[in-house]
Amino acid sequence: MRVGIVGAGHIGQSVARVAVKAGHSVLLSNSRGPESISVVALAIGAKAGTVEEAAAFGDIVVLAIPLHAYSSLDARLFDGKIALDTGNYYPNRDGEIGVLETQAITTSQYLARYLPGAQIVKAFNAILAAHILRDVQPAGSPGRRALPIAGDDAAAKSTVSEFVDSIGFDVVDLGPLSESWKIERARPAYCIPLDKVRLETTLAATERDSFVPEGSWRG
Ligand SMILES: NC(=O)c1ccc[n+]([C@@H]2O[C@H](COP(=O)([O-])OP(=O)(O)OC[C@H]3O[C@@H](n4cnc5c(N)ncnc54)[C@H](OP(=O)(O)O)[C@@H]3O)[C@@H](O)[C@H]2O)c1
Repeated sequence: MRVGIVGAGHIGQSVARVAVKAGHSVLLSNSRGPESISVVALAIGAKAGTVEEAAAFGDIVVLAIPLHAYSSLDARLFDGKIALDTGNYYPNRDGEIGVLETQAITTSQYLARYLPGAQIVKAFNAILAAHILRDVQPAGSPGRRALPIAGDDAAAKSTVSEFVDSIGFDVVDLGPLSESWKIERARPAYCIPLDKVRLETTLAATERDSFVPEGSWRG
């Protein structure tokens, strides 16, 4: 698969690394331009490019930038693209966003407002970047970690499931983007290593008022 990545920080680099290891072609980008990430990309075995090139390159395009940067994206680049939403809302970093404070919409629906032509699939938001590298296992391994995904487009979710499985994780589809609050920051399944059965059980038990203490997922 060809994987374009927008954002070359913690999560962008971790996804790039495991994707390359799994045999995918990866192009990394950031806002400062390819020369600023050429060394990192070379070490990973990825190409470095512009955001425009990453969006055009990817069969899937991983968005690994903070929420506060969504407004800087050129939506036209993502029309018809499968966009993986790794984002989480941290008010200290992103500024207070009313519709997210009130949980009127999910963070993925918030992204969809900026990228109306993209097929957004939430993935990789509920795992720490370092644990992406630590927890990959071949399919069929006992206790293999499962990652939750959500999205409104069945074909896009199928492509993303195939990708996530190929790099080393089982997948649990929790439903449409409107349900993805179940895996947002401080929810019981947020960044907790769980196999497929335990993740399904945890998601099924997650209610609107289910939260864990802030930061507890960092161990
Ligand atoms: N860190 C984790 O363990 C983790 C785990 C799961 C999910 N997440 C979520 O993933 C998202 C990214 O987090 P992170 O920890 O990877 O952040 P990070 O380490 O700060 O990296 C952010 C990257 O985004 C780039 N960027 C910022 N604005 C951009 C723009 N307008 N266009 C292109 N690139 C842009 C930055 O490059 P420039 O410096 O060039 O702008 C940088 O490479 C956040 O929503 C976070 O909550 C993080």
